[in-house]
Amino acid sequence: MTARSDGAFKLTMKNPLDFTPFFQPITIRNLTLKNRFVMPGMQRGWCEAGHPPARLAEYYASRAKGGVQLVLSESTAVDHTSATRTWKYARLASDTVGGWALCAEAVHKAGGHFFMQLWHEGALRAEAAVAADLESIRDAFVRSARLARQAGADGLEVHACHGYLLDQFLWGDINFRDDGYGGPDIAARVRFPAEIVRAIRDEVGPEFVISFRFSQWKLTSYTARIVQTPDELGFMLSTLRDAGVDMFHASTRRFWIPEWPGSDLGLAGWTKRLSGAPVIAVGSVGLNVDLAETMAGVEASAGGAQTPVGANLAELLRRFNAGEFDMVAVGRSNIADADWVAKLRDGHLSQIRIFTIADLGDVAAEAAAAGRRSSGGLDGEIDNGRNLQ
Ligand SMILES: Cc1cc2nc3c(=O)[nH]c(=O)nc-3n(C[C@H](O)[C@H](O)[C@H](O)COP(=O)(O)O)c2cc1C
Repeated sequence: MTARSDGAFKLTMKNPLDFTPFFQPITIRNLTLKNRFVMPGMQRGWCEAGHPPARLAEYYASRAKGGVQLVLSESTAVDHTSATRTWKYARLASDTVGGWALCAEAVHKAGGHFFMQLWHEGALRAEAAVAADLESIRDAFVRSARLARQAGADGLEVHACHGYLLDQFLWGDINFRDDGYGGPDIAARVRFPAEIVRAIRDEVGPEFVISFRFSQWKLTSYTARIVQTPDELGFMLSTLRDAGVDMFHASTRRFWIPEWPGSDLGLAGWTKRLSGAPVIAVGSVGLNVDLAETMAGVEASAGGAQTPVGANLAELLRRFNAGEFDMVAVGRSNIADADWVAKLRDGHLSQIRIFTIADLGDVAAEAAAAGRRSSGGLDGEIDNGRNLQ
């Protein structure tokens, strides 16, 4: 191989990283994944009136063919008029279930597994949702969960992150409800998400896998927190486990950032330690820019002393080998390169195509607009991330 000047290449040449631990199977309920790589939910802007086009099924299948074992659908609005009003956002209702069945089938044929991500956009109107609203939203999650199973998905993920409806319940800074579903106590704030999980579990039975995705950060605030302490996190997780969650997806923008002082565990690491459940870590795997920076228009680079194929993956491997998390979600890198996982598996790191903002295609302009809206959140936290570019 020809010599290159970037440090990462030297690092991989001198000390080839042993990625085989990522290629060991894991079993969750009756689902066995052959490796630990997941593609997280990412809206592509291709749906039409909520229907997934054939192109979306092909895209999911190509990532499964490229080595991703678990493909998560983009956030899919549950079967409720308030869940989304945007024509190009995915929906899971009786009129769209056939399209999702084709996605599941395509992923299965390509050797992967498929989960539907169930989502509600949030904030129904200026005033708080009343009890009847909550009941009808819960029923919509249940209907869509039933359809996810009918579509042949291997499981589902409850979207409770990034500032959308269920996250709005979890987030104490904005949830001032005084009806037992809000306020300063996490026990009250987790109540509605847990009720939804329990109702879904009752509907889908014991074998269908339920993942729960949560985050501290929001699209509108990068410094927001739903839980302030490990104790609060532990309480939230055990409530959700009791309700029927099998696995957690701890959404962070950078997987290596310690969540609390005194330990270098990230949010995924704390989640695993406190819940004992299988956990997916995520956030800038193989990239030296996080999602916020992408939205602010900052391009990733493959060069520099700490590059995608160098320190970033070495750190991912170190944390994985230390037992911090069980699975790894790779988002933008999978958009950029359908064979990202296969190239890593086969030791062809230098052939990985690095993500560019243009790869977002139909949602690039939207991402930029969201970046402008939330640019107040681009604070010192980002600079911490630069220690692992
Ligand atoms: C274009 C795009 C769309 C996204 N849509 C969703 C989504 O539908 N549901 C979700 O939970 N997260 C969504 N995310 C967040 C990703 O799942 C992931 O957490 C984030 O991109 C960080 O992973 P990465 O650094 O590997 O890209 C989206 C991200 C991108 C870039």
